[in-house]
Amino acid sequence: MQHFLEISSLSPVQIRALIQRGLELKNSKKYPGFSDNTVALLFYENSTRTKISFDIAARNLSLRVVDVDVSTSSESKGEVMADTISTLYAMGIQTFVIRHSQNHIQQELAHVAQNNMHIVNAGDGTHAHPSQAILDMMTIVERKPDLSRLKIAVVGNIKHSRVASSFQCICQKLGVGELVLVAPEVWSPETAHYGRVTTSLQDGLDGADVVMCLRVQKERILAEEIMDLASYRADFALTEQQLLFAKKDALVMHPGPINRGVEIDSMVADGPQSVILQQVTNGVYARMAILEALCS
Ligand code: CP
Repeated sequence: MQHFLEISSLSPVQIRALIQRGLELKNSKKYPGFSDNTVALLFYENSTRTKISFDIAARNLSLRVVDVDVSTSSESKGEVMADTISTLYAMGIQTFVIRHSQNHIQQELAHVAQNNMHIVNAGDGTHAHPSQAILDMMTIVERKPDLSRLKIAVVGNIKHSRVASSFQCICQKLGVGELVLVAPEVWSPETAHYGRVTTSLQDGLDGADVVMCLRVQKERILAEEIMDLASYRADFALTEQQLLFAKKDALVMHPGPINRGVEIDSMVADGPQSVILQQVTNGVYARMAILEALCS
C-alpha cells in the first residue's frame, strides 16, 4: 500500500487485514519499529482525536513525528501545498498525514507524489474519513464479528458527513447485513453508496445492533440547509427513550466530537451501551496498522 486515501480504493482483504492487525496490536502490545521514517502531521482543520491518535500511533511505531503548524508555514506567504510537501520530502519526511476542508485534495497530492512518499487522508471536506471507518469497524467487529447478520443505523447529517460516506463504503465492502441511514429530508444524501435512507428514527433504530450518531456539523451546513436544532433534537436525537427501539445490547457509537443535548443525550453517550471511548482507543491501533502497512 503506497497511500491511504479512501475506503473505496481498498479491497475487502486489505480492509480486513488492517482491522485484524489493529486488534492484534491492541491485544499483544508488541509493536514493530520504523525509526528510519518520519511522519508529518498537516492539519488544516481542527482535530483532537485523529491528529493525536496518529501522533501516538506513529510514536508507538518508533516513527519520528513532525507536527507542522500550518498557520505559520510558508503557505501563509503563497506557497502551494504540493510545494510544502516536496519541501518536507526533501528534508527526509516520507509520510504525510493530511486533513483539509477541500474534497479530494489528498488524492490530488498522491497523483504527483514521489514513489516512496505516502499520503494519508485524515479527512477531506465532506468526502472521506477512511481511518475513522477502519476504527469504527474495528470497534464493531471486536464485539459483534458476524457483520452479515447486523442491522446498523447511522443517524444525523448524512449529506455532509465524511464519516458517513466512508462508513457506507466499508459496510458495502465487508457485507454488513443492513445499513439504514437516518436523516431529516434536508440532510438526506442525493444517492446512498450503500444502505437505504429513511427520515424515521424509529424505522432506523427498530431492532438495530449498532447505532451510530453523527455530529451536527454547523460549519458545513449551507445557509439554505440550516435546520432548527430544537426540531432536529425532537425528531432525531438519540435519547434513552429512543434507544429502547434498538436491541437491548445495541452498541452506541459516535465519531466525536459530541454535541451533548443536540444529537445525543449524555445519559446515552455515557451509558452502558456506549462504546464511544473504545472507538477513541481503537483509533490509535487502527492508525498504527495503517502506518505500519505504509512503512513496511
Ligand atoms: N472523529 C474525528 O475526526 O474527530 P476529530 O475531528 O477530533 O479528529
